[in-house]
Amino acid sequence: MSDQGEIILEGKSYKLPVIEGSEKEKAVDISKLRQDSGYITIDSGYGNTGACKSAITFIDGDKGILRYRGIPIEVLAEKSDFVETSYLLMYGNLPNRAQREEFRNQLSGHSMIHEGMIKFFDGYPTTAHPMATLSSMVCSLSAYYPEHLDPKDKTHVNHLVPRLLAKMKTIAAYSYKKAKGQPVIYPKTDLDYCSNFLRMMFGTPAEEYKIDPLMVKALNVLLILHADHEQNCSTSTVRLVGSSDANLFASVAAGICALWGPKHGGANQEVVEMLQLIEREKIPVKEIIRRAKDKNSGFRLMGFGHRVYKNFDPRARVIKVYSDKLLANMGIKDPLLDIAKELEEAALQDDFFKERKLYPNVDFYSGVIYRAMGIPTDMFTVMFALGRLPGWIAHWMEMHSEGDGRIGRPRQIYSGETERPYVPMDQRK
Ligand code: ACO
Repeated sequence: MSDQGEIILEGKSYKLPVIEGSEKEKAVDISKLRQDSGYITIDSGYGNTGACKSAITFIDGDKGILRYRGIPIEVLAEKSDFVETSYLLMYGNLPNRAQREEFRNQLSGHSMIHEGMIKFFDGYPTTAHPMATLSSMVCSLSAYYPEHLDPKDKTHVNHLVPRLLAKMKTIAAYSYKKAKGQPVIYPKTDLDYCSNFLRMMFGTPAEEYKIDPLMVKALNVLLILHADHEQNCSTSTVRLVGSSDANLFASVAAGICALWGPKHGGANQEVVEMLQLIEREKIPVKEIIRRAKDKNSGFRLMGFGHRVYKNFDPRARVIKVYSDKLLANMGIKDPLLDIAKELEEAALQDDFFKERKLYPNVDFYSGVIYRAMGIPTDMFTVMFALGRLPGWIAHWMEMHSEGDGRIGRPRQIYSGETERPYVPMDQRK
């Protein structure tokens, strides 16, 4: 097999090196094409563009495979927890006992945020979306570590990584508490990551919060399933911002903003709002499917479709099983789960969805579990951000540890006016 591609432009041939990944995926390297030929490549939405080599996560969208550092997510969801999976993503291997203990201690020990920061929360209106609060608070963390912001200095990075992981859950819980008008609950060092978060969310000073192991397991599973997804929109944002040598907090804050959009992480909130609308207005599932197929309706079936998966999203499979289990164990009968199942069945039998290979994605069922856990709808995307954080950090660290350190800077084909005169004001139409 040839290890070179070739492109012929205006009768001239240009050789393009072929790169092969460890799972035999292939790419042609076009990085010298413009220099040699004057041509760039155009790829709207980057659907066919590889921006980097990465050893973190492997996805086979046709087969519905997702592995972190080689380990299938189904296995991690069953056997691991979020802290261990974060370590795996960021440092490349599962931690041994001592490493895991040290990492857990770091995450518990650094959970508090500066008292000055707690005052920031008072400045936001109670109607503030928690993603707005989260992104600005994470960026604000830069102000507290001016001595440790150099992305090229490993001791700086090692200082910040556990702190960011530990503090983001505290910021997330505080944004909820402030919106509710309740006092913040300080973290406890003797609690694990998920128990700490649940206590900070739902505890009050009036009574001790009872930790439910079922909820802790469900939260661990959800966070693991969201922990990385290679070069998605928010991760690519973190990498692009990071490529300018912006600090870790600034890069992650940008990723949070990218995640907020309804075509990305914001979809989990949209799914539940869609299911609520169907329930409230008693809209038949058939009608929803009709609207989703009608390009003029402006409506899409939220939680369906994925750029990479053209088969079942493996995360959606795991979440569906857990949502059934969790709701049954908690004795909850959520009508939204029934609507979701009915919608899924109808869509999967419809030719429009079949032809376009549109399947439920991770967000289709995650909102149902979050609801069962008592997490309000506008916090769903914050939960996604908490889960995705180790993935963002892993990619940011990988980018800085290898490569040529070039700033990310796509090209364009200009389609505007060619040179024209400046028209004085009194001659303008
Ligand atoms: N409902 C109805 N039609 C859809 C849907 C949907 N959810 N998703 C895609 N389509 C149709 C498109 O209209 C298009 O049809 P066409 O070929 O006739 O023009 C075709 O399927 C391909 O869709 P694209 O938008 O080109 O696919 P793309 O890969 O760009 O987008 C995306 C993927 C954004 C996820 C899209 O499927 C979507 O909008 N889904 C709903 C939002 C959602 O659930 N987002 C969460 C994604 S997962 C995540 O971020 C965790």
